[in-house]
Amino acid sequence: MRSNLNKMDTTVEMIDIIALIQDKVMEGVEHLYQEKIDRSKVALNTTRKEFEGDYTVVVFPFTKAAKKGPQQVGEDLGQFLVENVDQIKAFNVIKGFLNLVVDDAYWKQFLESVVNSEDYGQHPSNGKKIMVEFSSPNTNKPLHLGHIRNILLGWSCSRIFEAAGYDVIRTQIVNDRGIHICKSMVAWQQFGNGETPESTGLKGDHFVGKYYVAYNNEDKKQKAALEAEGKDKEETAIMKSARDLLQKWEANDEEVRKLWASMNGWVYEGFNATYDKLGVRFDKLYYESDTYLLGKDAIDKGLEKEVFYKKEDGSVWIDLEDAKLDHKLVLRSDGTSVYMTQDIGTASQRYDDYKIDEMVYVVGDEQNYHFKVLFEIMKRLEAPFANGLYHLSYGMVDLPTGRMKSREGTVVDADDLVEEVIAEAHEGTKERGDLGAFSEEEQKEIIRKIGMAALKYFIVKVNPQKRMVFDPKESVDLQGNTGPYIQYASVRINGVLQRAAKEGLDFSGAIDPSLNLETIEKDILLQIYEYPNVVLNAAKDYDPSVIASYCYNLAKNFNKFWHDHSIFNAETEAEKIFRLKMSKIIGYTLKNGMDLLGIEMPERM
Ligand code: ARG
Repeated sequence: MRSNLNKMDTTVEMIDIIALIQDKVMEGVEHLYQEKIDRSKVALNTTRKEFEGDYTVVVFPFTKAAKKGPQQVGEDLGQFLVENVDQIKAFNVIKGFLNLVVDDAYWKQFLESVVNSEDYGQHPSNGKKIMVEFSSPNTNKPLHLGHIRNILLGWSCSRIFEAAGYDVIRTQIVNDRGIHICKSMVAWQQFGNGETPESTGLKGDHFVGKYYVAYNNEDKKQKAALEAEGKDKEETAIMKSARDLLQKWEANDEEVRKLWASMNGWVYEGFNATYDKLGVRFDKLYYESDTYLLGKDAIDKGLEKEVFYKKEDGSVWIDLEDAKLDHKLVLRSDGTSVYMTQDIGTASQRYDDYKIDEMVYVVGDEQNYHFKVLFEIMKRLEAPFANGLYHLSYGMVDLPTGRMKSREGTVVDADDLVEEVIAEAHEGTKERGDLGAFSEEEQKEIIRKIGMAALKYFIVKVNPQKRMVFDPKESVDLQGNTGPYIQYASVRINGVLQRAAKEGLDFSGAIDPSLNLETIEKDILLQIYEYPNVVLNAAKDYDPSVIASYCYNLAKNFNKFWHDHSIFNAETEAEKIFRLKMSKIIGYTLKNGMDLLGIEMPERM
């Protein structure tokens, strides 16, 4: 549950206030009512805004042992804690909830202990290896808006796992073989006249995608012609040619393999350019052309163990009715593999390659059933990693204008969307006229960072399971719950620290013990204190939106502080020093949190 805070400055030994309160509540209940209670019974929350206090203890679970009402138990326990815990200064009881006020001295000491931790929130190694699979495109067309959500989720989950102490391997399965790429290939053969991305100036993946579209158009035309002749059951000539290519590919036909390799090569160049723009990379790529035969061994073994059964036609199945999952084909009657066969094989391969403890598949929710079945199969095959498998399923992304029409309709290219948000960011900064003091080059870099933050934050702030609408205009709004809003708070903090440096203000000295903290200052420190746990929770829930809303709330609190209080015109020197220190750790925390979302902070904006 709660882990100790880590990476604290070792010169100050920091007490974990939450664990301390839990300990003392257990002690108090035993002392007052002669009953030992379990730690799990001590529920501790941060105190709600409308009440005085920092942490709230739920006392209902102790009323039975006490043979007293919740109000009285709260009073007893509160008294005990104030008397026995230096860090607890006061308490109040409201409707069975015991609100505890932590002494300012504790928060000041806490600030002192973290203020120089640039990597605040980074947990030490937990000794576990996790593989995260994301993107995993087919190689016949460019990446689209759905891939963007996939990639951003995959990337930020990877970063969150790293911060939580995991060793992370980022991977994807590149679906580089099969009928889909053969369709692009055959269209290129028939209509391409030898043109290349180079000769046309087209980005490689867009180039190959153009032929996939050409294939579909031609196929439609031929289908219509067949229908007119009353042969609507017949396969089109171009479809036959595509199948022919696939057969030749499987027979290792040199010519076909060559064309296949160069078309895929074009696609990879294009994909890599998009990955670069999104700021993501992979540690290991698996290609379907290498892995598509894997899994057949596992099928044989599963047949021996009677996990699978064979039908008369030779096809192999699994009966998952007892798991409410139906019967599922795992090998065709002609011995060729299906999607499931490959995933069975690839999972084992990955385990053999890396001895991973856990594996996360970031794949759209249209494949929920596939992964349920896959995981159930791995369990029945008694794969050693079967309990570490997780499908990070995510919902569709639409555009406000309804431009993304999924399968058949016009799909929005990832590249176009990136351009669009950067253009929006440009528009916004032009209107505000903020960037006048920067060179052309610097302006471009700042605008890029704003645009990318807008896109990334808007997408990852939504819980993955929810469907969402991506609105480029709204995403750059400096007033809203957006990436640029948080960037702006961070830039403000940079400004404060730069000014302090320019004025030669040294705030490295100790915080004055007699300084009283403002409510907002305490709120902020409590929030900073929570950050390492927020990282663990985000990892546990596979949910970057937890980090996003944390960063937003912290930025909001900083802005509130900024509006209500002055740093440089603080009433006392002690106050000024405290506020500079606090600003510094807010800056680190925002930067680290946003980094977990794949978002860079501009120095200025
Ligand atoms: N390429 C597939 C698609 O575009 C996704 C692959 C997901 N990963 C997996 N291991 N099955 O639908």
